Amino acid sequence: MLAQCPVHKDFHPLSADFLADPYPVFASLREEGPVVYAPKIGMYVVSRYADVVRVIEDRDTYSSANATSPFMPVCAEAQAILTSGFPRKPTFTNCDPPRHPRMRNAASRCLTPKRWAKTQPAIEACAEALVDALAAKPFSDIMADLAFPLPALAGFSVIGFPQGDTELLKGWCGRRVALTYGDLDPAGQVQAAHDLVAFFDYCRDFVERRRREPADDLTSDLLQLAAEKPDLLEVDDIVSMVYSISLAGHETTTAAILDGLQALLPNRPHWNALCADPSLIPGAVEEMLRINCPTQGIRRITTCDTEIDGVPIPKGSTMFLLLASANKDAETFADPDVFDPKRPNAREHLAFGRAWHLCLGAPLARIELQLVFEHLTRKTPRMSLVEDQQFHFPGNVLIRAPERLLVHPNGA
Ligand code: HEM
Repeated sequence: MLAQCPVHKDFHPLSADFLADPYPVFASLREEGPVVYAPKIGMYVVSRYADVVRVIEDRDTYSSANATSPFMPVCAEAQAILTSGFPRKPTFTNCDPPRHPRMRNAASRCLTPKRWAKTQPAIEACAEALVDALAAKPFSDIMADLAFPLPALAGFSVIGFPQGDTELLKGWCGRRVALTYGDLDPAGQVQAAHDLVAFFDYCRDFVERRRREPADDLTSDLLQLAAEKPDLLEVDDIVSMVYSISLAGHETTTAAILDGLQALLPNRPHWNALCADPSLIPGAVEEMLRINCPTQGIRRITTCDTEIDGVPIPKGSTMFLLLASANKDAETFADPDVFDPKRPNAREHLAFGRAWHLCLGAPLARIELQLVFEHLTRKTPRMSLVEDQQFHFPGNVLIRAPERLLVHPNGA
């Protein structure tokens, strides 16, 4: 027998209170039931681990077509700019079969351990130089000194983008997140729409340049694959892939560094344990991703009438899947609020998603995070958070991290 869906009339993931601290809301949502309807956003919200996994795994019932659609309505002027200048094809997160497996297969042939290994020395040198520089300061903003530049170097050098364009690209990516996952006013939407078109044009020009002058990077590998297997991949697909990976490849890792440090630094016994025994770092990185998850929520849309644990969900409903809440579900993670670098099932966290759309860059993100924490624990073991700082979390529903994280690198 079908039950009625509970309604959570106040839930809004862009409200100031929620952005400041979503975790009490997650806890009450998990209590309320497997799924609640949130009229303020017109979506069905899923917050428990088992239900989130079930939805993600069932891609016939829950399509990804809406995963990168604007979370809030876009004004007509901004929409017109996007419609005329932004011929992006669904490629990864917003793509379903039969196209998605083809795109993923092509990307997986190029995003190999060999590609990560080629990038690792540059990341290692960059992490070391950045940590040395911040270790020499009395105060550091981890965002500016480490979390912004390192993932940019890693993500953009995998693609092959010139390092000189980092500021430009990061600016575009920030406005792309705000337009797609935030709540900009109409003027902000129009500005962001122009930026998205400029960003897409940049990706198209870059792919064209690599067609003429191949180099040792992912874009050139994809172009070579397209030349060998034109039925698998076309140049337009590669432009869309480069555009997707250029955002996916760094904003999330930037957030993960900030979230990880924010979780760990006040937790002195664990921080000291990592400083004393670096072999704990890989486990600690998984636990950071679980307990302070950089990716808060992803979306799906139902392809037919369905139900979750007896609660009916009509065809065409938007599902909002709270990855960060699922990571705190006591049914899956014992004592979920306790940071435990030795937690046996920490790697089952959903920070990288699951199943068909499981993050293709997770190996690179893990390399970056492990290197960051190896260098920080070795070079700045007395690092502490600056006391009484106010954390501000930008208004978007995808990525959660403080805008700035102030530390004393060598203790207060
Ligand atoms: C800590 C860092 C990262 C986090 C937390 C993260 C998180 C995620 C999540 C949750 C998804 C699944 C989205 C969905 O199912 O709708 C995803 C997909 C994806 N990620 Fe990541 N990501 C990270 C780093 C990276 C990096 C470094 C790259 C590339 C260099 C990357 C590339 C991708 C791609 C291409 C997809 C789409 C896969 C598909 O749809 O088949 N990510 N990521």
